[in-house]
This record gives sequence, structure tokens and C-alpha cells, in this order.
Amino acid sequence: MQVTMTVNGESVTREVEGRMLLVHFLRDELGLTGTHWGCDTSNCGTCVTWMDGEPVKSCTVLAAMAGGREVRTVEGLEKDGVLDPVQEGFMRCHGLQCGFCTPGMMLTARALLDRNPHPTEQEIREAISGQICRCTGYTTIVRSILWAAEHPDGPTPAAAEPETAGSAS
Ligand code: FES
Ligand code: FES
Repeated sequence: MQVTMTVNGESVTREVEGRMLLVHFLRDELGLTGTHWGCDTSNCGTCVTWMDGEPVKSCTVLAAMAGGREVRTVEGLEKDGVLDPVQEGFMRCHGLQCGFCTPGMMLTARALLDRNPHPTEQEIREAISGQICRCTGYTTIVRSILWAAEHPDGPTPAAAEPETAGSAS
């Protein structure tokens, strides 16, 4: 079957099998491998993308179900070479180690900050509660998202230097 959707602002059309999942469509048909595939059982959340502005686990969505929808992946967070504040936050506050969970975490964080620009730590933890990180213990992920909330326009000259490991503890 033929499916057409908008991905990161561009219209794409492909012939796909009806059973193809969105995560495989993005990775295998479009080469957008920033969307990771971890469990395929809707547990890990590393496959999170946006569909019409809402985070979804793309291993639970058929590519055909995304027809006519607006999909955004981690590759669409950066704009004109400028990192999203969430990406800056993860970089500065050591929000990742292996990085496997990171794309999904960042997309969930962006969605949270778009609807709630000043979340509490508890609200952040609730927002990412459907996603698993095996490395960080979540503390630096939460700190990264708080950094992004505090810097909605990105880094200022005063914040130009990355956080140190000591300051992230
Ligand atoms: Fe989708 Fe794990 S691959 S939730
Ligand atoms: Fe390794 Fe989160 S940084 S799973």
C-alpha cells in the first residue's frame, strides 16, 4: 500500500506492507535511525516520536496509521543548525551515557516543555515515566530537562561553558 506523511516538515511517500511499523518505516525506509528500536513490546520508549505533536511509541503505530499525519523525529529537533535547548541541556548536563534512550527522552521532554514551560522535577519524572534508561539513574536526564526549561532560548554567553561532572551531581 502507498502511504504519505510529513516527516520533519517534508512530505514523503512510500510503498509499504500494511504490517510495517512506524519505527521501521522511519529507520529502514527513510534512514532516520535516530529513532531507536529497543523492545518492540511498548515497554522501553526509545522509539518515541511525535505524531501530530504528541509523543507516541512508534513501535505501537503502523506506518499506514501515520498516513496524512505530521511526524517529528529527533532529527527534526535541530533547526537551521541550532540545537534545541533540550539537546543543549542533555549535552551540558550529561543527560546520556550510552545514548540509546536519548532520542525518545528528548522528544518527550520537548513535548512537555511545549505544554508546560516550567515543569517541576516531579512533573518531569512523570512525563518520562514511560521510558527506560539503563545507564543514568535518571537524575541527569531530569537535570537536563530543567536546564532546557531555564534556557528556553538556548545558551546565553554566561552559560556557554558546559556543566562540569561535579556540578551535575
Ligand atoms: Fe517501542 Fe521499546 S521499541 S517501546
Ligand atoms: Fe543508556 Fe539511557 S543513556 S539507556
